[in-house]
Amino acid sequence: MIADPERLSIDVTADDSAVEADVSVSLGLIVTELVINALKHAFPDERNGTILVDYQSSGQDWTLSITDNGIGMPEGNEAPKAGLGTGIVEALVKNLEGEITLADAGPGTIVKISHQQGKGSRTDVSKAA
Ligand SMILES: Nc1ncnc2c1ncn2[C@@H]1O[C@H](COP(=O)(O)OP(=O)(O)OP(=O)(O)O)[C@@H](O)[C@H]1O
Ligand SMILES: [Mg+2]
Repeated sequence: MIADPERLSIDVTADDSAVEADVSVSLGLIVTELVINALKHAFPDERNGTILVDYQSSGQDWTLSITDNGIGMPEGNEAPKAGLGTGIVEALVKNLEGEITLADAGPGTIVKISHQQGKGSRTDVSKAA
């Protein structure tokens, strides 16, 4: 997938917790879509960069984040149109009763998905995937 590993790298950090099989399948699909997004959109013109996938949990609460140091996501009128990937990620996150936050990673983009026990789902960030 990465034609030139000198140009782009992926780092993964995670704690050693375990989740149910169905949750892990959903987390895997979310990671796949968001990492592909970073590879497809964040590093045009052969830019160099890094994608970081992080997963940390505490009891039943967990946070997954995918961060890139690419061109960032335009906001306001310039905001990109959500594609199929956004819909899939939103549906998966809703199913996991999680919340999506999209932020500027200065430079780049950070998409954070967090699940807190007792908190309902909230997936109103339409351009997160
Ligand atoms: N990491 C990122 N950096 C910069 N722009 C991004 C990033 N992720 C997404 N985008 C922008 O947001 C848009 C919407 O992403 P989305 O995943 O919904 O659609 P897509 O990747 O274009 O198509 P699909 O996921 O259906 O194959 C993208 O077209 C792109 O312009
Ligand atoms: Mg996509």
